[in-house]
Amino acid sequence: MRIVVTGAAGFIGKMVVQALDAADTVTLDGVERRVSAILAVDVAADPLADLAAQCRRVHPLHGALGDAAVLTRIASDAPDLVIHLAAVVSGQAEADWDLGMDVNLQGTLALIEACRRMARPPVFLFSSSVAVFSCADNDTITEDTLPAPRSSYGTQKLMGELLVRDATRRGFIRGRSLRFPTISIRPGAPNRAASSFASGILREPLAGLPATLPVGRDLRLHLASPEKALEYTLRACALEQAELGATTTLTLPGITVTVGEMIDTLAQIAGADVAARITPIPDPAIETIVASWPGEILCPRARALGFVPNTGIAALIEEHRRRSERAV
Ligand SMILES: NC(=O)c1ccc[n+]([C@@H]2O[C@H](COP(=O)([O-])OP(=O)(O)OC[C@H]3O[C@@H](n4cnc5c(N)ncnc54)[C@H](O)[C@@H]3O)[C@@H](O)[C@H]2O)c1
Repeated sequence: MRIVVTGAAGFIGKMVVQALDAADTVTLDGVERRVSAILAVDVAADPLADLAAQCRRVHPLHGALGDAAVLTRIASDAPDLVIHLAAVVSGQAEADWDLGMDVNLQGTLALIEACRRMARPPVFLFSSSVAVFSCADNDTITEDTLPAPRSSYGTQKLMGELLVRDATRRGFIRGRSLRFPTISIRPGAPNRAASSFASGILREPLAGLPATLPVGRDLRLHLASPEKALEYTLRACALEQAELGATTTLTLPGITVTVGEMIDTLAQIAGADVAARITPIPDPAIETIVASWPGEILCPRARALGFVPNTGIAALIEEHRRRSERAV
């Protein structure tokens, strides 16, 4: 089968492409299929070229989703599976409304339009976010809580989910929208997501670097590890469309942990001197955003469909350490 991955050079995209390239077969819509080719799409030219050089079945397509030539190429590729990960993240979408609308909303719409031109509707995985939710004060909510985003990013993701739902109902695609938890520990440099500290307060101290903590220790986070994000993505491909019915959006389970528990677990695993590299420097702008994030999300439907969260924060730290050792 042929696969298109957008945002292929990004953090999750790269993991997904490498895993698909390494796998001989992938379960799609309940049927085991052989992977023949992966079209990897991204605006970031150099990381895309690096990725393609490492992977034997990957064909790079450099360009933006709004570009007609890129969309024509995607449509003519006639993929069986489209994994749509391209986006601008929360902080950037908040800082630049036009860019967020262009990539997160118009890009998704344009990609669905390209799928509509295909002879057979592909399975279409849309990466949404728990940022579609908000609450009064870091509360516990459920997957059935009415989404009420308090950011442009969350709003754009929610509109994307609705487009996926309607395009599925119309038979243009076989859509699945995944509301990912915050992914931690994200490797590499801090990014422009408001949640960047959720990785930074663990990643930087483990690398011998100082980190700042912009929020209070009592804040609760809903987290999943990078390997869990990959596992969730592959599980969502494997689902049969009938298992979703009309409700094409799934809120994915995460672990619930306070920032204080994250720091204490870091100290237990790596030492008090490592945890001491974190300096609290409150940032009122970030504190306001994160207080509206749910501290815990109950996800019985996703769990029943086989989406199982990490065991705890220690597992996220250990996974990151293993990955860092492999990279040396
Ligand atoms: N990482 C998380 O914690 C998290 C949480 C919830 C949801 N998500 C969602 O998962 C997806 C992947 O996240 P990520 O962390 O890998 O993000 P990322 O920023 O690392 O990757 C996004 C990629 O999209 C590319 N891109 C941006 N605009 C583009 C365009 N117009 N055309 C083509 N490519 C474009 C970027 O160059 C980048 O490589 C995103 O949709 C994100 O919103 C991520």
